[in-house]
Amino acid sequence: MPLISMRPLLKQAQAGKYGVAAYNMIDYNSARSIIEGAAQLEAPVIVQVSVKTVKHWGYKPVAGWVRMLADTVDVPVALHLDHCNDIEVIKRCIDAGWTSVMFDGSALPFQQNLAKSLEVYKLTEAAGIGLEAEMGAIGGVEDDKFVAEDKALLANFDECVAFCKEMPKLAVFAPAIGTAHGFYKGEPKIAYDLLAKITSAIDIPIALHGGTGLNQEQFDRCIAGGCAKVNISTMHKHCFIDGFVKLKQEKPKLEEPLPFIQSQYEAMKADVMSMIRAFGSDRKAPAAKATMAAQ
Ligand code: 13P
Repeated sequence: MPLISMRPLLKQAQAGKYGVAAYNMIDYNSARSIIEGAAQLEAPVIVQVSVKTVKHWGYKPVAGWVRMLADTVDVPVALHLDHCNDIEVIKRCIDAGWTSVMFDGSALPFQQNLAKSLEVYKLTEAAGIGLEAEMGAIGGVEDDKFVAEDKALLANFDECVAFCKEMPKLAVFAPAIGTAHGFYKGEPKIAYDLLAKITSAIDIPIALHGGTGLNQEQFDRCIAGGCAKVNISTMHKHCFIDGFVKLKQEKPKLEEPLPFIQSQYEAMKADVMSMIRAFGSDRKAPAAKATMAAQ
């Protein structure tokens, strides 16, 4: 299928109370594992890319790989740019064919975050693609951004309401609710009450950042509470490296590269498929496609 915008895909997930897996791709093999894993389970999926990864491979190669892989499957796939605070990078992604982008102005004071997010909102609306925006400070490391545990801040409810009112067609909103990027060192303190308050006041699907390491009960509560996009990056990176290292340990004399690539692919795909099942989005592609076609 051609790449689609994240907005209808997440509206469907919000209504159906399931989560769409949003995986941070690393290379062609990783994008393949995400898209083919989703296709095998008939699940819609989001392939997202960090700014660092886009800059490493180039805009056109990344968009080309994902578009080509999406064309070979029959499930909805969106290509999304993860945390970005550089409007020039966003414009280049839009030009290269991304179907949604995240503007992350969460480090800015409220008014500046709002003003810059609105500037990007105008661009994404004009291009007919989706936008994700963030409020509060999600802890941990993502790309080149590090938020120390003591600096992580829950989103302010009144600010969330005022922010989203200005952007009614936001594809997905990312308020900090106590989850963090990277492996958790202790038990995450998820502010379910804040999530409930936000979703009762704002009719926009919510993004759950920091998906790696959450358990099934936490996923279930967050998804039931309105999280329609669930981000996984750290575990995918782990599978990428582990898939290679494990085979090298098992067969130290193996010099042929393709079995290593296959081993990485299988490790990443197995994780993608297990998370899709955990988020309840398996077998949701046919209904999502039918509803989108009828709109
Ligand atoms: P993890 O690194 O915890 O999987 O979170 C990913 C994420 O939220 C990307 O924005």
